Amino acid sequence: MEGLADVHLRRLLTAQGNFDWVVSEFVRVVDRPYPERVFHTLCPELLQGGRTASGTPVRVQLLGNHLESMAINAQRAVALGSYGIDINFGCPSKTVNRSMGGAVLLKEPDTLYRVVSAVRAALPKSVVVSAKMRLGFDDTALMLDNASAIEAAGADELTVHARTRLQGYAPPAHWDELGRIRAHIKIPLIANGDICSIDDYHRCVAAAGTVDVMLGRGAIRQPTLANQIRANQATTTSWSTISPLLQSFWQEISLVLPPRDCVGRVKQWVNYLRQLHPEAETLWRSIREEKNAQTLQALLAATTHQVFPYEP
Ligand SMILES: Cc1cc2nc3c(=O)[nH]c(=O)nc-3n(C[C@H](O)[C@H](O)[C@H](O)COP(=O)(O)O)c2cc1C
Repeated sequence: MEGLADVHLRRLLTAQGNFDWVVSEFVRVVDRPYPERVFHTLCPELLQGGRTASGTPVRVQLLGNHLESMAINAQRAVALGSYGIDINFGCPSKTVNRSMGGAVLLKEPDTLYRVVSAVRAALPKSVVVSAKMRLGFDDTALMLDNASAIEAAGADELTVHARTRLQGYAPPAHWDELGRIRAHIKIPLIANGDICSIDDYHRCVAAAGTVDVMLGRGAIRQPTLANQIRANQATTTSWSTISPLLQSFWQEISLVLPPRDCVGRVKQWVNYLRQLHPEAETLWRSIREEKNAQTLQALLAATTHQVFPYEP
């Protein structure tokens, strides 16, 4: 998730266990092959065998429509160690859509077919190619055509965020539409959108007719959500689990990011956490206006009475 589930959060979340694989932030492909450093910047796990520290495979996500360039960059990412390639047909950003990338391509099933075909043809069959789409751009009229195009082009898996681009991120996610896609294609379908609890998981599975799901913001709010789903146990991630993760997050990012960015990243995560955890709401109130990294670190440490050195 761009600007959110970066290498640091991917490390922390996958360390909680039970993620089969994760996706990198998207690499926006234009009309040229990228040097290694572009892939290493967005997916530093490539420097450690394409896995997070806890061993979860990471799949590089590409976004774009330039056939040759998508193919070459897919080959490069795989040569660098990516666990397959995921293609983004879901990004709602106006800037991205204006340059004909992301969800805007859902208006053109033929283009989806060509993009996926180009990437598929560039890689050995043993390398997984997946695509991620929404239900449509403005509406679901082309939903089944888009899913069919992606399947016919040779994708191995399809993840669907159960909203149109017009629906943005607003609840609810329309899991029942996923059931229509499930009945229409044969490749594995991965359901996505608003799966934030074990109850959501069961309702989504019942509506979508697939047991495979992609967790997004639900796992940001509850880092052990994948464990709950695997164990079929509804136990909200406790604050005593989350608080050390926040500390660890701070420690890690403060080694590599400028202080101002560290402050922003921690606030961003706490803002998600406070939707579920009263302790995060309290913390949020104390850090919301804070701009100073040292003060914010002290406030964070106070939430668990842990102290660690700040080295900008
Ligand atoms: C801040 C943010 C960044 C995102 N970046 C990406 C991305 O780079 N690639 C992608 O496929 N989806 C991205 N998404 C969409 C999520 O992967 C997911 O499809 C969406 O949030 C719905 O699932 P959820 O309700 O479980 O979060 C992003 C979502 C958010 C909120």
